Amino acid sequence: MITKVSSGTTSSRLLSKTTKPTPTFTRAEVAQHSSDRDLWLIISNKVYDFSGYAKCHPGGAQIFYSLAGKDATQAWHDSEHPFWATGQLSAKCLGDLVEDSIVDLPLTEVESVNQNRNDDCDDDV
Ligand code: HEM
Repeated sequence: MITKVSSGTTSSRLLSKTTKPTPTFTRAEVAQHSSDRDLWLIISNKVYDFSGYAKCHPGGAQIFYSLAGKDATQAWHDSEHPFWATGQLSAKCLGDLVEDSIVDLPLTEVESVNQNRNDDCDDDV
């Protein structure tokens, strides 16, 4: 007689759910999401989904269209945002940027500006 063996108990499935790793994305993957209806941004090495949000943004849509699929770290930190906006930002987080992808792709215009600014930092002082 063949006995059916269960592939996992409820508790083991719950355990694997709670220990699920944070999703990671490359810059190339993020760059695929660059339209109004499918718009991702990178901010401080995290990936955010702003699909359909641009037109609702109190600071205007243009900033989202110009940075769609790219790194918006500098733009986010340069703009004045109320505390509640930071809360809404975390709700849109999809996961982390893959570390390797930071050096994989050529720099965009914004990233070049960021890099120039970073050159001005006196980190090693
Ligand atoms: C869910 C996330 C976000 C919320 C809720 C939010 C909300 C806001 C609010 C309330 C303002 C002030 C508008 C005003 O007083 O006239 C603003 C301005 C602005 N936001 Fe956002 N924002 C978000 C994400 C972002 C991101 C990701 C960027 C950059 C890519 C950005 C760039 C700007 C800019 C450039 C301004 C114009 C004001 C300035 O230059 O300081 N925002 N946003």
